[in-house]
Amino acid sequence: MKFYVTTPIYYVNDEPTVGHAYSTIAADVLARYHRLRGEEVLFATGTDENGLKVARSAEEKGYQPKAYVDMMADRFREEWRALSIGYDDFIQTTEERHRRAVAAFFEALHQSGDLYLGEYEGWYCVSDETYFREPELVDGRCPNPECGKKVEWLSEPAYFFRFSRYGDRLLEHIERNPEFLLPEFRKNEVISFIKGGLRDACVSRHAFWGTPLPASIPDSEGMVAYVWADALINYLTVAGYPDDEERFACYWPADVHIMAKDIFVRFHATLWPAMLMAAGLPLPRCVFAHGYWTLGGEKISKSRGQHMPRPQPVLDTIVAETGCSRASAIDALRYHMLREVPFGLDGEFSGEALLGRYANDLANDLGNLVNRVLAMVGRYRQGRLPEPCEPDTGLAEAARTAASEWERCVETLDFRTGLEAIWTFLAEANRFVDQQAPWSLAKRGDQAGLDRVLYSAAEAVRMAAVLTSPVMPNAADAIERQLGLNGWARRWSQVREWGVLPGGLPIGEVAPLFPRGEPAPKRAPARKSPEAKEKSVIAIKDFQKLDLRTGEILSAEAVPGADKLLKLVVDIGAEKRTLVAGIAPCYPPHELIGKQVVVITNLEPATIRGVRSEGMLLAGSVKGDDSSISLVTPDRPLPNGSSVT
Ligand code: MSP
Repeated sequence: MKFYVTTPIYYVNDEPTVGHAYSTIAADVLARYHRLRGEEVLFATGTDENGLKVARSAEEKGYQPKAYVDMMADRFREEWRALSIGYDDFIQTTEERHRRAVAAFFEALHQSGDLYLGEYEGWYCVSDETYFREPELVDGRCPNPECGKKVEWLSEPAYFFRFSRYGDRLLEHIERNPEFLLPEFRKNEVISFIKGGLRDACVSRHAFWGTPLPASIPDSEGMVAYVWADALINYLTVAGYPDDEERFACYWPADVHIMAKDIFVRFHATLWPAMLMAAGLPLPRCVFAHGYWTLGGEKISKSRGQHMPRPQPVLDTIVAETGCSRASAIDALRYHMLREVPFGLDGEFSGEALLGRYANDLANDLGNLVNRVLAMVGRYRQGRLPEPCEPDTGLAEAARTAASEWERCVETLDFRTGLEAIWTFLAEANRFVDQQAPWSLAKRGDQAGLDRVLYSAAEAVRMAAVLTSPVMPNAADAIERQLGLNGWARRWSQVREWGVLPGGLPIGEVAPLFPRGEPAPKRAPARKSPEAKEKSVIAIKDFQKLDLRTGEILSAEAVPGADKLLKLVVDIGAEKRTLVAGIAPCYPPHELIGKQVVVITNLEPATIRGVRSEGMLLAGSVKGDDSSISLVTPDRPLPNGSSVT
């Protein structure tokens, strides 16, 4: 079993952005998932270094082209490392192995009779590295709305690839292989492009910078491969073409090429498969075009001076706003990009949405589950896991469903639905803890019941680590460390196994994976928007800092010497809290027992009349009228510790 996944190879005229990171993260997730399944994975990414635009960029910046491309390729390598992206191969198209592959491939095209010498007359956009005919131009400029740059007139002898011959064969292949082009809704665009008539493609340039055509091709002196023909061949080079036959037989055809829609129709879904057909090589199993991230609802246009954010400053913001580790910030960015927008559609890149997901999905759903279960193992079992118990059918079933759903979704790269399924499992695990209420079992002295519940909950936490690990590898490592599973060999099949955690295992140090607060001190106070100043509105992220939870009042008594204050003990799910509340004028203590209330649980503790108060109740009142105090209670009963958002 092998799995070969590729990203586009990125132009090195600019630094990597979260847009480039998107394709690369998606490929990394697939690679990690298939590795977990024990498959032989080849995950390739790299840089596209032979274009005219790269050569000009080097010149503008005062570098020799090769020194420039090597430096920029290192920037991409560093960036991927800093996003926990574990590629197996990074190809630079100026490498010798790629020159050999391009030469062999052109040789094969020549042998097939699909290469001929002609004269190219027409327009060329260096920024898009694309040939255009006069009628295609818009106001004499590049017709790509994201480019719109000036085009250059070319008139030179050039080699052409008989692309026009391949229309019918391409249509047939698309029809016979429903999974070849995904997502489904992009297929029609490809079909109309082919039906509109394919023109032979110019595949060489007279240029000083590029991969030279092999000497065996007549009259090709001074010619280099057209950068797109050169770039697409990288997918073969990585698989061992042409020298390493064994490697090539193992990995080719690729299982999935990932890219955005910008380079799908003209290049990956038509020209590339036609080139492979001509060279007599099998086609990739799937070519997937995801959508484009936009900023402020606009397509990113460099000519209009907009740039997608770089990944590292985005991580800096997450760390500064939440106080989390860099590793957790990386996971948050990876998770957000794949959960926020269906893979295939465009999406708006928003820091606020990212922090919202962090607070709800990561800090509350995942982080809180892990933290409260392990904290209870610490508190009630002196930090050692109980002995394995019979499987909890509800939890085991929920994990199996999540695994099957993820497996199904990953086939069509539907990461969002796959993650939703995993989050349904997390909700089930949280519900299990709420309903089984281990704290009550501990209070009743039901040791056997407590052990069963804690072991089952710890198993759910372990399964959560496996399920989330392709998307959030750092969190999964941290969860396993906290469970005490050091150096654990994680496997996907472990989601469907019960009793994997050894009884008596001492758990590791417990710490919140996705802390909610204590942001690092800011250098300068954040500027409020004019609207915020006027109405003193707060940003959603400020509200999300509050950890509001449902709780049940277990006891209530007057605070000596204070008319209005009551000392309450409230069960907030994972623990009991003592609070001091000024509600005595309206609530006699006995009326409060058993009442459900809403508690701010992450308020700094305060000592009031000698009693330490660890939180605050929510209540309303008519302004200035203490006799009107009314507690906020859930409309319908909720398990203690449910979050209120
Ligand atoms: N060098 C060619 C690709 C050759 S592949 C044989 C190229 N390079 S690029 O640097 O312009 O990268 C384009 C790709 O980067 C997109 O197809 C997509 O994978 C990724 N993205 C860059 N910005 C993006 C967004 N704003 N949104 C989504 N993906 C984006 O084209």
